[in-house]
Amino acid sequence: MRALLREFVFNLDESQLWPPHIATINPPLWEAAHVAWFAEWFCVRDAYNTANGETRADIASIWLESDAFLNSNTIAHGARWHLPQLTRARTLDFLDRNLEATLRALERAADDAEALHRFRLAMFHEAMHLEAFAWAAQTLSWKAPSWARIGIDSAMHASISNHAALAEFQLSEKHDSSRYQFDNESGLSPQHALTLEDSAELVTNSKFVQFVESGAYTRATQRAHPMYWRSHSNGDWQQRRFDRWIALAEDEPVVHVNAQEAEAYAAWNGARLPSEAELHSLFSSQPNLWHGQVWEWTSTPFAPYVAPEQFKPGLYREYSQPWFDGKHRVLRGGSFATLPIMHHPHYRNFFTPARGDVFAGFRVIGA
Ligand SMILES: [Fe+2]
Repeated sequence: MRALLREFVFNLDESQLWPPHIATINPPLWEAAHVAWFAEWFCVRDAYNTANGETRADIASIWLESDAFLNSNTIAHGARWHLPQLTRARTLDFLDRNLEATLRALERAADDAEALHRFRLAMFHEAMHLEAFAWAAQTLSWKAPSWARIGIDSAMHASISNHAALAEFQLSEKHDSSRYQFDNESGLSPQHALTLEDSAELVTNSKFVQFVESGAYTRATQRAHPMYWRSHSNGDWQQRRFDRWIALAEDEPVVHVNAQEAEAYAAWNGARLPSEAELHSLFSSQPNLWHGQVWEWTSTPFAPYVAPEQFKPGLYREYSQPWFDGKHRVLRGGSFATLPIMHHPHYRNFFTPARGDVFAGFRVIGA
C-alpha cells in the first residue's frame, strides 16, 4: 500500500499539490504525510492512551514538530491547506523513512494479536486514506488512482465478482475471527430475519434514470440530476468517472447518490432502505448478493452494537466514538476503490446522509 501511495504522490502534477479547499477532501501532501505520521505514532512511537483521555507518545517523531500539523485530531481542516513545510520531496522522504522504521518495529514486535494490533490499525488506516484519495480524485476530475482502476477498466460487477474474499465468505452468526475488527464492531452484529422476497439487487443506473426522468427526483431533491451526471446532446445520460465522461452504464449500480436521494427513490417505489441489521442478514443468508462495487447506504444511524455505556474506544480513540452523534449513517461493505484488506460485507463505514461524493449506492426493501 505504501508503494501505491508513494507512486500517487510522486506522479501528481505541480498544480495538483494544493487543490482548492473543499470540505470533503484533504490536500494530497497533507493526507499522505498524515498516513505516515499515524503509522509512526502508533507503531514506532508506541502511542498510548492515558487515564485522563489523552493519547500520548513519549518518543519523538523523525519529522520534528509533525505532531503540530499531521495529527488529524488537532489540526483544523482549513489549516491543512496552509503548510509550506509540506513539500513533495519532504513528504516522499517521510513516507520512505517511516516505512523503514515501521518495518523495523514490526520485526521487533511479539508475534501475538495484542502486539500486532497497532500495526494492523496502521494498515487499515492507510487503506482508508487510499480510498479517500480516490474520492478526492473523483471530486477534482483527476485520473483514477491505480487502486481504483477496477471501476474504469471493466464493468464493475465483472471485476469484483472474482474478488478472492468473496469466495471465502461463510457468513455466520458470528464474526469472522480472523478479520481485524474496529472498536465499533465489538459485540454481536445486528440480525434481522428476512424472507426471500425481501432480497433485492442494487439499484442500477437504468432504474435510477427512470426516477430522474419521471420528474420525481427533481421534486424530491430540487436538483436536475445526480452528482457527476450530465445530459449529452443526443439525449443520453453520461457520468463522469474520474477524468472522463462516459455513457451512463445502464446495468451498473447507481453510485454517488446520497442517502436522501436513495430514500427518495425508495419512497417513489413504495419501498425503503434496509436497516443495517437487514443488510447484514441479507448478506449472511445470501452472500452472492454482496458484490462490493459500491458502499451501501442503510437507514441505521451509526452507533456501537453494544449499549453506548458499554462501548470501549480502541487504541485509536477518535476512530468511532465522535461519530456516534446521530448525524451519521452506517454504510456497509466497500466499493471498487476499497483496498482488498478492508473489502468485506461486515465492514461498517459512516457518513452524513448528504454525502454524495463517496462511492455509495443502495438497494431497497419492499418494492
Ligand atoms: Fe486519518
